[in-house]
Amino acid sequence: MKKGLLFLTLAQAGLLLWGGPLVSPARAQEPATFQPPPDSEIPSGPFGDLVRKGELIFTQTGKFAGKYVGNDLTCESCHLDRGRKPYAAPLWAAYVNYPRFRSKNNKVSRLGERIQGCFRFSMNGTPPSLDSETIRSLVAYSFWMSRGAPVGKKLSGQGMYHMPPPARKPDPFRGKKVYAARCALCHGADGLGTTSGHDVAFPPVWGPRSYNMGAGLAKISKLAGFVKMNMPLSKGDTLSDQESWDVAAYVDSQPRPADPRKIH
Ligand code: HEC
Ligand code: HEC
Repeated sequence: MKKGLLFLTLAQAGLLLWGGPLVSPARAQEPATFQPPPDSEIPSGPFGDLVRKGELIFTQTGKFAGKYVGNDLTCESCHLDRGRKPYAAPLWAAYVNYPRFRSKNNKVSRLGERIQGCFRFSMNGTPPSLDSETIRSLVAYSFWMSRGAPVGKKLSGQGMYHMPPPARKPDPFRGKKVYAARCALCHGADGLGTTSGHDVAFPPVWGPRSYNMGAGLAKISKLAGFVKMNMPLSKGDTLSDQESWDVAAYVDSQPRPADPRKIH
């Protein structure tokens, strides 16, 4: 079990245990998602060592790559289940689709460059160099997880869920109510997350220790898709589309660190 979840209050644990539909009927008809290999199949030897290092950095980024991190998040805060969960931008679907053109940089990027982007914006930090052990380990971990996946094909569950357009304009005021009812218990009414001693129990969703304005989730449509499929934690697909849009509009209307491209 992940460390943060050891500190659940009774109410938080109750929320996690409450059932609810895991897959909506529409999505149940999608083709089966790719199954990445289990950790027990990470080989011994130098390749396996690099993969294991990558997994440690991915799940405990502040501890194992702290000098590159500028907030309280880990890679796993958004890429859930150690980078395995469909529609939480899983690593197995990412690896086989790079190099890829990204309009954000107007160039064809390698996977390592894409990861640098998440350090800069989502982790509000300083990107490690492409030949650093940090990037090499994270690329090795992604490579290993994609074992057997078809190369260059869009896989079911890749990236974040792409939301259909909202029926009504996303509204932060409606979203605030959704946040209070479905999110505040874990992420705090003030959005700053909750800690247990020195450990982050639940990560901040806004404020100085969260992702910055240049991050993918700072776009309402991306955040709505992430929330729709993944939040409340373990209750993905229980908010309506409109609630997901509204709560995303609310969260992204709150203060957070500036986009580093716009600081002069
Ligand atoms: C605040 C949330 C957040 C954090 C933290 C975060 N990422 Fe991301 N990451 C995203 C989003 C959003 C995308 C874009 C997904 C999409 O294409 O829809 C993304 C994309 C990626 C991709 C490419 C996925 C694809 O399918 O193209 C990789 C690889 C990746 N991140 C790795 C990392 C690593 C490694 C870390 C930790 C150093 C990290 N991310 C931290 C939100 C985050
Ligand atoms: C039961 C507790 C719980 C509830 C309720 C919950 N979350 Fe989360 N959320 C988490 C945890 C834990 C993570 C990080 C996952 C990890 O590290 O494995 C997370 C991650 C996130 C992230 C990405 C990381 C960050 O801090 O920015 C966002 C955004 C987010 N949640 C938004 C929401 C929204 C919006 C709601 C309400 C609709 C919500 N969450 C409800 C526990 C919860």
